[in-house]
Amino acid sequence: MNGSLDLGTALDLTYLWIKAAHIIFVIFWIAGMFMLPRFYIYHQESTPGSVEEQRWIEREKKLRNIIITPSIVLVWVLGLTLAYITEAWTQGWFHAKFALVFLLSGYHGYMVGYGKKLAKGERKASGKALRIMNEVPGIATAIIVILVVVRPF
Ligand code: HEM
Repeated sequence: MNGSLDLGTALDLTYLWIKAAHIIFVIFWIAGMFMLPRFYIYHQESTPGSVEEQRWIEREKKLRNIIITPSIVLVWVLGLTLAYITEAWTQGWFHAKFALVFLLSGYHGYMVGYGKKLAKGERKASGKALRIMNEVPGIATAIIVILVVVRPF
């Protein structure tokens, strides 16, 4: 041992660090996605034009701009890098995961758009509808984790 890493070991380590970073930002993204519709539910229970409503608008904006939007970008960049390194696109589980992550990203976009309209006073969805939509990230996460860990196909 002369203390220097050979190229193969260095690449293996890089892959592991990228995978760790991918999982870290997945957690940040999904945690934020669990919170956002919940914030919208409380927001819609406040009186229009009240100080309380203004506080929810600020909290929602911070959650979107500081947590979920930067996280989704990093999850995608790191995930696509992993797919490139491992040639995952040749495998069935990855196609299914990719389709689900694509839909989840669409849900993210819808929720961000909903929040911007909500901040302008448009309360389009009922509290019940938001509560049902709030289940989407949890269900998607369960299926995605099974796909990447168990790889049933
Ligand atoms: C945004 C697009 C995404 C892409 C392109 C992507 C791609 C990948 C790839 C190629 C791997 C490497 C698997 C390997 O080591 O062979 C991976 C690992 C992983 N991904 Fe993603 N991913 C994405 C989003 C997500 C999301 C949203 C979740 C969870 C909700 C997730 C959870 C995981 C987990 C838990 C692992 C580690 C699995 C293991 O130990 O091998 N990923 N991802």
